[in-house]
Amino acid sequence: MNDALLNLLRCPFCGTRLSLVDTGATVRVNGQIRSGVIACGCCAFPIVSGIPVLIADDVTRQAVRALEAGQPEDALLGLLGLQGDRVEQFRTLLATPEGTYQSALKLLSVDAEGTYFLYRFSDPTFLVAEAIVRALAPYGATRNGPILDLCGGCGHLTNVLASLAPNVVTPAQTVVTDLYFWKLWLATRFTAPGAAAVCCNADAPLPFARDLFSMVVLTDAFPYIWHKRLCADEMARVSRSDGTLLLPHLHNVLGENFSAGSTLSPADYRDLFVMGHTRLFSDATLLDDLLANSTIDLTKHRSPEEIGNEPSLTLVASSLSRTFKTHAIPERDGVEGELIVNPLYNVERGHERSVLTLTFPTPEYEAEFEDCRRYLPASVTIDADVSGPLAPAMFGSQYSELRRRRILVDAPPRYRD
Ligand SMILES: C[S@@+](CC[C@H](N)C(=O)[O-])C[C@H]1O[C@@H](n2cnc3c(N)ncnc32)[C@H](O)[C@@H]1O
Repeated sequence: MNDALLNLLRCPFCGTRLSLVDTGATVRVNGQIRSGVIACGCCAFPIVSGIPVLIADDVTRQAVRALEAGQPEDALLGLLGLQGDRVEQFRTLLATPEGTYQSALKLLSVDAEGTYFLYRFSDPTFLVAEAIVRALAPYGATRNGPILDLCGGCGHLTNVLASLAPNVVTPAQTVVTDLYFWKLWLATRFTAPGAAAVCCNADAPLPFARDLFSMVVLTDAFPYIWHKRLCADEMARVSRSDGTLLLPHLHNVLGENFSAGSTLSPADYRDLFVMGHTRLFSDATLLDDLLANSTIDLTKHRSPEEIGNEPSLTLVASSLSRTFKTHAIPERDGVEGELIVNPLYNVERGHERSVLTLTFPTPEYEAEFEDCRRYLPASVTIDADVSGPLAPAMFGSQYSELRRRRILVDAPPRYRD
């Protein structure tokens, strides 16, 4: 993090500014604060691997003590929750220049969430969220303020948001937050290195100044927040009055969902967000339009009754009426990161020919994301050897279609093994 981001932070408890404490623990690299201790009138918080952790619990307090004792590695291991054999494995990973997101994720994620965070770039719910932010970003970040990706996990959508930020050297154009430090560590190291990360609890007041963000995004997470009214009000507080609140993939209490969380009805979600025009959209219709027409049609807002018992919906709140139009989502053939074969495919190599077979990691993943079959074919033969580094020219006339269907993915460098 840098001093400009520090300037935007506020203590989630007393609401006052935070400043660096002269404990001898501050480490700066190329103008970025890599580690140190920040404090307000009531608390001290650690900055570890450039990530401020604005949570007051024992693990965080231990990290502050480790930093003050000149032990930044202990602070990092504690926040990552690493013990025993995993400590040595982590050190090996750090020492391996070609270490990947996939291998780091395997080490840091101890449950099935790791599956979600490996295949996230081609989930149907991600496709819709990505298309909406691509559609709306011109009305946000490039105009009047940074973007916040709240509960952003390992930073997949943050990667897209950061790529949409204006190409100027200003601080904290894109900020990702999550409750779990290890996810943000992966986000800043691999998935969204262009973003700033802040570890904080969305079930508490948000640690940011008011009227700050041009867009606040919360994807696939609001039902996991217990203090929903507080979180909704906080999203509005930290957003500019001409900003946009975007909540893709809200699980509907009237429908069926995997990992549903504590869900509300469409009307209840709408009533929590009273900023500008608050409109609801059917996730099923958004996906249909995107796959059939490459559009995000924000003229098709629905009443709670029209959404009925559909499993999930998307909420957009904005005072800008021009937000609510039909947005064309252009095909993207360029490569900003590294071109890879979607990790959902098992690859059988032949001479200048590869056979790709869609292979789901678990039956649960297959059931939850079965809509990906609408664009990911069960099997595809590619006239190229995909075992080495990939470049668009290798795929000839097949390339655009392979990209459009997410068989090939523009992933951050070193994403998969
Ligand atoms: C299903 S994941 C979605 C992640 C990301 N938004 C995406 O779409 O890829 C839900 C995320 O919400 C985070 N989360 C849950 N409760 C939270 C809380 N109280 N504060 C901050 N993050 C929270 C989880 O750690 C997890 O990363």
